[in-house]
Amino acid sequence: MNLKQLISHCKEYGFIFQSSEIYDGLAAVYDYGPLGIELKNNIKQYWWKSMVQMHQNIVGIDSSIFMHPKTWEASGHVDAFNDPLIDNKDSKKRYRADQLIESYVGKIEAKSQKDIDKASAKFGDAFDEVQFRSTNNRIIDRQTKIDYALNAMNKFLASEDMEGLKNLIEELEIACPESGSRNWTEVRQFNLMFSTQLGNISGEESKLYLRPETAQGIFVNFLNVQKSSRQKIPFGIAQIGKAFRNEIVARQFIFRMREFEQMEMQFFVRPGEEMKWYEYWKESRMKWHKALGTPEDHLNFHNHENLAHYANAAVDIEFKFPFGFRELEGIHSRTDFDLLSHQELSGKKLQYFDPELNENYVPYVVETSIGCDRMFLSQMSMALQEETVPDANGKESTRVVAKLHPALAPVKAAVLPLVKNKEELVNAASDVYNKLKKDFICQYDEKDAIGRRYRRQDAIGTPFSITIDFETLENNTVTIRERDSMDQQRIPIEQLNKRISEVTSINNIL
Ligand code: GAP
Repeated sequence: MNLKQLISHCKEYGFIFQSSEIYDGLAAVYDYGPLGIELKNNIKQYWWKSMVQMHQNIVGIDSSIFMHPKTWEASGHVDAFNDPLIDNKDSKKRYRADQLIESYVGKIEAKSQKDIDKASAKFGDAFDEVQFRSTNNRIIDRQTKIDYALNAMNKFLASEDMEGLKNLIEELEIACPESGSRNWTEVRQFNLMFSTQLGNISGEESKLYLRPETAQGIFVNFLNVQKSSRQKIPFGIAQIGKAFRNEIVARQFIFRMREFEQMEMQFFVRPGEEMKWYEYWKESRMKWHKALGTPEDHLNFHNHENLAHYANAAVDIEFKFPFGFRELEGIHSRTDFDLLSHQELSGKKLQYFDPELNENYVPYVVETSIGCDRMFLSQMSMALQEETVPDANGKESTRVVAKLHPALAPVKAAVLPLVKNKEELVNAASDVYNKLKKDFICQYDEKDAIGRRYRRQDAIGTPFSITIDFETLENNTVTIRERDSMDQQRIPIEQLNKRISEVTSINNIL
């Protein structure tokens, strides 16, 4: 399914709505509906259980969105949390300069991919892509252009050379995607933090920021948590919470939002041991994604070339979204940058006494950081499929099915009386529903023909549909239909609970 279809599916079934839609919406801000909140909660639960509950040496917190303004001076966000912004004078559209260059590169890459696909179709099994790339002149020329554009962009970004970026955009003859015009303004740095003010005093003194990452709430609480939970290094602090960024170009649905949720963990280690833990968390986080059944070809690592101001190593776990491979999660070796800066600006020691080494030091930090909303988008985009299947009469029909991992599926089971106008069936179905609802999120549905009800459950990803029919009244058995295979089996009512939890429990993937 493409992104447009996914967005409309999310709206139709109550996963995600545009915020303030009745006022024509607020750009890049979204609301989660009744099914969306369940799926999102399951994602958070999977993360929390595997990061906190499964590790004796990781504990959780929930810190405030508002923090002392000095926090953001220490973290470097006031000075360095910027994106390069450029406006087109004719269309009045605003862009991120680096994204304009990246989409120029993307277009060239797409042309090469077309040639590769053509050649691959022509030569079949004998086709060797590596050889083709290194010998085909058109592809070699295009790759030279790509390398030139990316190298120059990275150099200008690293040295914050805004004039260099503007000149590069002109040299590459990049036009405004809306108007085709090449009439650009200068490139300017734009700080991504939202600000507000404390109480009713105005001025710099009372300026507060909406946090752009949850991590700083962990850093400033480092000693409170370490002491109160009697943790020894290495140990981690985890948090799930909202973050806010005034993104210049917010596109691609919930991929880039202005208000979003992060799931972050800071792992405090001995100085000098950070690279060992960086490798450990890289592998561990990749395993977490694969445990959901995400295929290898949908995930990859992408090392950062331009390191953030706080990092000495950084890698993204990228996911193949409907618009290509993009960052889903970041793993960063943040050194002692944050704790040292907070120590300096606050004047309070943020040191750990290591009893084994018998010395005090400021720990180094390895961070894992994933956006809950991006994780949601990755799961929905992988799950939603259109399939041709036989209908009740054996004829071909199409169904839309959300093949979400059963542990993430918002509704675990649907309870369906075969017909709604037979009181005994409705009563028996209500009994089954009332029993199951204590352990699972269930839906009771008696409207429409049974085939249509199955389709509705397929579309929202419900792993099991349980039908109560006349045989149920005789021998307390029901049919249980499995979403992906559509196989139906007759089982006793008392086995339902075990059967559903065997497949849908998050514990299966921990
Ligand atoms: N504490 C480190 C940090 O915030 P980041 O790479 O800027 O690093 C971490 O963000 C994760 O947060 C990203 O991998 C992404 O999943 C998510 N994220 C960042 N900006 C986002 C946005 N505007 N909308 C949705 N998710 C976002």
